[in-house]
Amino acid sequence: MSRSSLRRAYGVWAPIYDRAVSGFSGPLRRQSLTELPEDARRILIDGIGTGLDLPYLPAGREVLGIDLSRAMLRRAQGRGQAVWLVEADAEALPLADQSVDLVVLHLILAVVPDARKALAEVVRVLRPGGEIRLLDKFLRPGERAWLRRAIAPLSAALATHTDLVFEDILAQEPSLVLISDSPAALGGWFRLIRLRKTASV
Ligand SMILES: C[S@@+](CC[C@H](N)C(=O)[O-])C[C@H]1O[C@@H](n2cnc3c(N)ncnc32)[C@H](O)[C@@H]1O
Repeated sequence: MSRSSLRRAYGVWAPIYDRAVSGFSGPLRRQSLTELPEDARRILIDGIGTGLDLPYLPAGREVLGIDLSRAMLRRAQGRGQAVWLVEADAEALPLADQSVDLVVLHLILAVVPDARKALAEVVRVLRPGGEIRLLDKFLRPGERAWLRRAIAPLSAALATHTDLVFEDILAQEPSLVLISDSPAALGGWFRLIRLRKTASV
């Protein structure tokens, strides 16, 4: 899906997004965002959407949220929480190399047109030793999941991908190490994943 189609799609989603997503995702967000390291002072929420993660972040951190959709960002702004919001593309982050301590990737990698490019951008802006907190739906290598593969063209039209294999995306980033990977919902289709960028490759 092109960027302009994604913008249009999330313009439609924006007014109903919280009602549709907050109930199921709340406990998963809480789990994903527990035990944030003390030294994670600068946090990027990549594809922040309506800002549903904001209530789960500890106070006193510097938080930046980027998103392609102005309609979604407006909702995030309306939450009235301390956050810098910028309209930007996750595949070309307007941030300097190694400028953030932790990146939140909730329900975004399976949405962007090119998940590999988006992850490469995260690796670029994350400092060595920094962490990624990821929540999304992924297939496992070799998983047949015929229905999820079959509906992929349809779900892509609905602005999400159902056939991404996380291990394939991770394989391109040798600087990332897996800290944990746990099933989150729908029989492990949704996963909570923690990654750390190594100090050197
Ligand atoms: C499913 S929503 C998830 C929002 C939020 N992360 C959450 O957990 O509720 C996907 C978000 O990604 C944004 N998005 C899609 N493609 C993007 C891109 N290339 N760059 C930045 N944001 C993008 C959409 O506008 C939307 O707000």
